[in-house]
Amino acid sequence: MTTAPPPVFLPTLPGRYYTDQDVFDAEQRSIFSRQWVYACRAQDVPAPGRFVRVTVGAENVLVVRGHDGVLRAFLNVCRHRGATLCAAESGEVGRSIRCPYHAWSYRLDGSLRSAPNWSTMAAADKADLGLNPVHLAEFHGLVWVSLADRPPPLADHLWAQLDYRLGADRAKFERYRLADLVAGHRTDYTVAANWKIIQENFQECYHCATIHPELVDTIPQFRDISRLPGYVADGYAFADGKASFSVTGQALLPPLPGLTEADERRYYGMVLRPNCFLSLLPDHVIVHRFQPVAPDLTTVTCEWLFPPETVAGYDVADTVELFHLVNEQDFAATEACQPNMKSRSYARGGILVPLEQEIIGRWYYDWYRAAMDLGEHL
Ligand code: FES
Ligand SMILES: [Fe+2]
Repeated sequence: MTTAPPPVFLPTLPGRYYTDQDVFDAEQRSIFSRQWVYACRAQDVPAPGRFVRVTVGAENVLVVRGHDGVLRAFLNVCRHRGATLCAAESGEVGRSIRCPYHAWSYRLDGSLRSAPNWSTMAAADKADLGLNPVHLAEFHGLVWVSLADRPPPLADHLWAQLDYRLGADRAKFERYRLADLVAGHRTDYTVAANWKIIQENFQECYHCATIHPELVDTIPQFRDISRLPGYVADGYAFADGKASFSVTGQALLPPLPGLTEADERRYYGMVLRPNCFLSLLPDHVIVHRFQPVAPDLTTVTCEWLFPPETVAGYDVADTVELFHLVNEQDFAATEACQPNMKSRSYARGGILVPLEQEIIGRWYYDWYRAAMDLGEHL
């Protein structure tokens, strides 16, 4: 008896997974309201009273640093009549968080400090009226929040993914010392595509030779579409003659302190589910944050991180420009696909070629199916 050979192709998710509001809402409930979600970097909230506001699932979440230096997260919703406490994307609240509607005031640890006309309510217990807390944890300077009742340790969630990408060599990741880096540049992109189309794109390089001429000039392995599926734990080497990951390829910036010879002139990229993409490079680190807005709309924040001395002493424009080009090329490609997710041609999905199957078809879809409780059924 002969065994049938494995199928050459695997399917993508059916088209409606990229277009239906019902699927989008289910993702917000089953993924973004249950799992750890990347919110910001600790450096984005550098001092007491500073805050960042993020959307997580259906909730509006405030990340704020207290007078004790501790970062905390709360629902950004006044306990009185539900006003949004901080409408700006980021900023400074000062000594307390004051509601703009009737002026209830909360301490930076979330407890209720005062409310106008409190003497008529003095029988109430202020301890019951603090802001609703949200779980927050930091991982090497990356701040993640979770709306789950009892989330698992954040480190377990992230190391499982980093181990898969880096061959379980944790020191390799730690050498980049993400917590010590600061943003030298940030660009916000609005992308007319479903968040999963963007992440699928970031997890395959079958397209690199076609749409990323500058990238494949820098990393020739990305041009080689005959290579095996899956990640290369040792990263991807720069081309001969390319001293850095930049448009000119010249080594303009000092290397990150702490890296070893093995890290020189190498690139590691990885999705940290559900909404982060990390790029490790010899002289900088790039962090993408994906924010699903609608089935066909995602905002992407991209930050280029460097040691403070590099930002203070060097022009980082040449370095920033390379991945900015890659971003624009990727986002244009995903926007070209999005309208056709509704086509009858895509009703049962598209095709994953062998090169795309290990990371998207198994690693990413297995997680998605489990998170959405789909079983094998799509
Ligand atoms: S809604 Fe905030 S004080 Fe009334
Ligand atoms: Fe790409």
